[in-house]
Amino acid sequence: MDAVLTVEGLSVVFDGFHALRGVDLRVCRNGVHALIGPNGAGKTTLLDAICGRVRPAAGRVRLDGRVDLVRLAEHRRARLGIARKFQTPSVFPQLSVRENLELAAAPPGLWATIVRPLSPTALDRIREVAALIHLAGASAQPAGTLAHGQKQWLEIGMLLVRQPKVLLLDEPVAGMTGAERADTAVRLTEVARRATVLLVEHDMDFVRRVADRVTVLHGGRVLCEGGMAQVAADPRVIASYLGREGTRHAAG
Ligand SMILES: Nc1ncnc2c1ncn2[C@@H]1O[C@H](COP(=O)(O)OP(=O)(O)O)[C@@H](O)[C@H]1O
Ligand SMILES: [Mg+2]
Repeated sequence: MDAVLTVEGLSVVFDGFHALRGVDLRVCRNGVHALIGPNGAGKTTLLDAICGRVRPAAGRVRLDGRVDLVRLAEHRRARLGIARKFQTPSVFPQLSVRENLELAAAPPGLWATIVRPLSPTALDRIREVAALIHLAGASAQPAGTLAHGQKQWLEIGMLLVRQPKVLLLDEPVAGMTGAERADTAVRLTEVARRATVLLVEHDMDFVRRVADRVTVLHGGRVLCEGGMAQVAADPRVIASYLGREGTRHAAG
């Protein structure tokens, strides 16, 4: 398998608490890979350790089977193609959809966009991403006036204009309506043609729809991995997580 990300023996310790205990994970290029598991399993911590927000106590994170990201700062990993979407919105509400995408596509620093206009290639890419996130018709609209789901998609668009290799999403459909979730499932599949998507999600219907591969985390360890059907039939997964699917999962 062509792995874009390879996590080897990753451990994260917070003040003596082992949040990740030797996690191994291979994420296949151009697909949607989902991380599921009960609250506190270490899913968010794993995304944090991949993007560089959290420093692991041990282990490696390889990009394209070569570069070990673990020693690199967050902004350097971002430049190598690791994009992370956080749960808190980071769009500029007064700026239009197009302006938000232009800022995201510009080199770091607001000043650069004022001094130097974007290249025709960058402008083409912005148009292409606006279409992909279904906001082409709303390019002049202030981002603050978008619906919740559209704002979430604008943020994903702001990551996509930088052409990441890996897109890390933490509970992307939280707070979305059923229609927005269905729409997001379709669009994420399109996104996965150009970038690899690694996401954390509690909505199992959504995971069933989008994920090519599922890894179940429990107590900081990988419990099992496979297709959704295979994982959902695993007695250990039913006992630790899916058996309680009828109960409401708090976002965590
Ligand atoms: N910054 C932190 N300091 C101390 N403990 C933390 C920190 N971040 C997460 N944890 C703990 O690590 C465990 C895993 O958390 P998290 O990765 O957020 O789980 P999940 O996303 O699967 O719900 C939890 O027990 C959580 O309380
Ligand atoms: Mg979490």
